Amino acid sequence: MDVIHTVSELRTRLREERRVALVPTMGNLHEGHIQLIRIAKPRAACLVASIFVNRLQFGPKDDYDRYPRTLDPDCEKLAAAGCHVVFAPNEKIVYPEPQTFTVDPTASLQNILEGEFRPGHFRGVATVVLKLFNMVQPQVAIFGKKDYQQYLVLRDMVRQFELPIDIIPAETVRADDGLALSSRNGYLSALERVEAIRLYQALHKIRGAIYAGERDFAKLEREASAQLDAAGWKTDYVAVRRQQDLLEATTQERRLVVLGASRLGSTRLIDNLEINL
Ligand code: PAF
Repeated sequence: MDVIHTVSELRTRLREERRVALVPTMGNLHEGHIQLIRIAKPRAACLVASIFVNRLQFGPKDDYDRYPRTLDPDCEKLAAAGCHVVFAPNEKIVYPEPQTFTVDPTASLQNILEGEFRPGHFRGVATVVLKLFNMVQPQVAIFGKKDYQQYLVLRDMVRQFELPIDIIPAETVRADDGLALSSRNGYLSALERVEAIRLYQALHKIRGAIYAGERDFAKLEREASAQLDAAGWKTDYVAVRRQQDLLEATTQERRLVVLGASRLGSTRLIDNLEINL
């Protein structure tokens, strides 16, 4: 496996490759990322993982500085998973000058849910992903559904800009107790780690209620938020939405997703579950 830090070396390495799959990451890899590599494997001859902690998508109160940088163990995991190239540029490579051109995702998608609590986040994500696409020029890219809104933003970006890239969504990988794997789980204390499944349980309960026929989504959302907060969480949102664009769902909608974001101590966790009626 080649570990490459500059765009020119990357171009040289990929020149002869006819079908490249990209798995963009911010590093600190866990089984969820490795699953993305596995999904990429049958779809391309050359698997590239990028590792770059993108300052542009972090808000002033976010965890950019404390976000774990773990390049060596990440490379070991990627090599073991059969990755061919790791592209790990530094900030000067990705942003050699201030990034004054940006990608502004659809307002109705970027300003809701995560976007409401992290203004500018999806502009930062879309901008860096477009740059990574231009640097790597993949035919396929894989994104986890754990970041459901991010997946939709990037899927729509590729469609609207006619980028010749297949975007493949990957199911969320969970620990045995149901907790969605996330680099941010590493911030949890042992006690918080036990408590952390409450968010998944809350979403699971809503999914069960909807499968059982409940259609008062606002009531389900209110109850879940209140239960989390009563257990000491600080909930940003629990929302039942349409899968296609995350707009509010009518009771007739058959493709739903319930999404939640809540803070446990100093760690903000997000999760979601699709509901197909
Ligand atoms: O999902 C992530 O890790 C990041 O948002 C991404 C897609 C690598 C862009 O920085």
